Amino acid sequence: MSDPKQPPHGTGAEGDAPSVLDDGKTTRREFVGTAVVGGTLLAAGFLSLSATAQGGAKASSLEGPSVAPVPIKLQVNGQEHALEVEPRVTLLDALRENLGLTGSKKGCDLGQCGACTVLVEGRRVNSCLTLAVMQQGKRITTIEGLSQGETLHPMQQSFLAHDGFQCGYCTPGQIMSAVGFSREPWGQTDADIREGMCGNICRCGAYPHIVAAVRDGRGKQA
Ligand code: FES
Ligand code: FES
Repeated sequence: MSDPKQPPHGTGAEGDAPSVLDDGKTTRREFVGTAVVGGTLLAAGFLSLSATAQGGAKASSLEGPSVAPVPIKLQVNGQEHALEVEPRVTLLDALRENLGLTGSKKGCDLGQCGACTVLVEGRRVNSCLTLAVMQQGKRITTIEGLSQGETLHPMQQSFLAHDGFQCGYCTPGQIMSAVGFSREPWGQTDADIREGMCGNICRCGAYPHIVAAVRDGRGKQA
């Protein structure tokens, strides 16, 4: 029987922390180390978000009975891809899970964070909010298609030059959004950049550096 005076999960203070986690084998140091390595791989796109525990996100956003797949063709980064997907599959899931283009991130899958931003016909789109079947015949550009061979796109160079990221998870979406933003008729002030980029959330709060990167990169963009 637990002590009714003690909160069931401790107070969160360091003194409450057990040195051994519930399985009796894993120490806190080992646990944190594993989480950091996993997070780094995730940010770099080596692991799918599906394998992590962000609000219990699954391998796919699909729920309920499956629907018969249909053949579609997508033009991604200058290449045509033939694939079969259920009609309800989002462009984001088709890119990540069917084509292996995991640079576009799944942050919320709800259109709230911008981590999934890609360009469709040169305009920025939240790929979690559009269906793959709707994008046939359109030019889709993901972060993987932005550079020219070994030469980074000017916006990518600018994010590097200005340290426009910390963990990097939001960065592909930030860069794709910044490329689209730079083609739109916004003013030249930092307030315009903040407003125009407000659909891209950075949990690390790297906003001052992101604004600097967009300010610099938009002037160099072809
Ligand atoms: S994953 Fe698309 S907006 Fe968050
Ligand atoms: S750099 Fe970490 S979420 Fe933006």
